[in-house]
Amino acid sequence: MEGFQVMGGEKIKGEAKAQRAKNAVLPILAAALLADGDTVIRQCPDIRDAHAMAEILQKLGCACVYADGEMRISSQGLKNWVMPDDLSKQIRSSIFLLGPILGRLRRATVTYPGGCEIGLRPIDLHLKGLKALGVKILEEGGVIRCDGGSMRAGDVYFDYPSVGATENVIMAAALLPGLTTVHNAAREPEIVDLQDFINAMGGRVRGAGTQVIEIEGVNALRGCVYTPIPDRIAAGTLLCAAAVTGGEICLRGVHPWDLIPVCDKLREMGCRIHEEKEKIALWAPRRLKAFSRLQTQPHPGFPTDMQAQMLAVSCVAEGTSVIVENVFENRLSHVADLCRMGADIRVNGCTAVVQGVEKLNGAKVAARDLRGGAALVLAALAAQGETLVERAALIDRGYDHLERTLSFLGARILRVKLL
Ligand code: EPZ
Repeated sequence: MEGFQVMGGEKIKGEAKAQRAKNAVLPILAAALLADGDTVIRQCPDIRDAHAMAEILQKLGCACVYADGEMRISSQGLKNWVMPDDLSKQIRSSIFLLGPILGRLRRATVTYPGGCEIGLRPIDLHLKGLKALGVKILEEGGVIRCDGGSMRAGDVYFDYPSVGATENVIMAAALLPGLTTVHNAAREPEIVDLQDFINAMGGRVRGAGTQVIEIEGVNALRGCVYTPIPDRIAAGTLLCAAAVTGGEICLRGVHPWDLIPVCDKLREMGCRIHEEKEKIALWAPRRLKAFSRLQTQPHPGFPTDMQAQMLAVSCVAEGTSVIVENVFENRLSHVADLCRMGADIRVNGCTAVVQGVEKLNGAKVAARDLRGGAALVLAALAAQGETLVERAALIDRGYDHLERTLSFLGARILRVKLL
């Protein structure tokens, strides 16, 4: 097992380029199955979830090679419609493969991906969307057998704007003759990126980013070369690193318009932020002020994937901050470890009330989920003394060598092997 050893107290200072988006790359990897040719994903982040997804594609009969920062997928060989059980449990995003496998092979068998640290992660909306397209679904013993023999374009309505369910339906409908319309679709930027990728393969998807998405099925999709959007969450995490250490950072290769809620909160805390087309510069005050209230919501609300990081930053801000996690039912597990570092946080249900303290103290803590782990690293940067953040592998799921980037920006952070 590996961990991050951090000696706190150094200001984050300098320039960095944001990685490309994990939550765009994962559905794009799945959508590559729809093409009967080769696809190259450029600037593919070197993260565990992307490699896990590539492994599943290989098990399904595709060739998938990661080299020189590019993921190359050849999906001509797709023949296996049964998702490997062990792998679909290893990465929840494997559920995104349902749509494209049905789109290409008109049948699919997957096992329930199961919950994770942040919640039960049900897939009822995924299944509802596919049933609306005529997919017959048999669920027994944790296995989901899908028969797409009579699939047809149609109208899909989501009771909740689920990101994954929206993406699954878009991919299932891309090769389905006729017009499929998704109502109350999720509006995240990663869905717009999936639309752009499918259209680059010759698809006809429109409306992503709004609540109504239309997919006009085409006969075939071809491979393409594609660069995913910047990772707004990884970028937001680096902005928080500068904010929590009283530093300054210039982030390049970012989309400021995808970070509006995050920059709004950091400005409320006293940070000065300058935005240009593909750049965000942030200067932090000596001491941050608490934001009054932060509540996570589907896009364009405040992103749940930035909640843990902002909660960590609020621990050393002057005043009281209230954080409400509305999207996942168990996404405050980082609070316990932040309290071990001296934070003053009270949790009641999905609400955390943080009384800012002058200083946190280094401690031995452990990541429990991807973004909670990143939040602990942020707290460690600001803490007095040494912190050991165990389970670096959880953080590596979504961050491309986070310790290298932070170290380059002045942090004293090492990746260490633990017994
Ligand atoms: C995507 O997960 C992201 N993952 C998550 O990022 C992100 O937190 C989430 O969207 C919300 O923005 C990827 O894109 C790979 P949802 P997803 O379906 O698709 C409930 C990270 O840290 N729901 O929008 O699973 C669900 O329980 C990860 O990078 C149902 O009830 O999110 C949750 O409460 C974490 N039934 C809410 O909707 C369903 O069928 C949001 O889930 C599906 C979801």
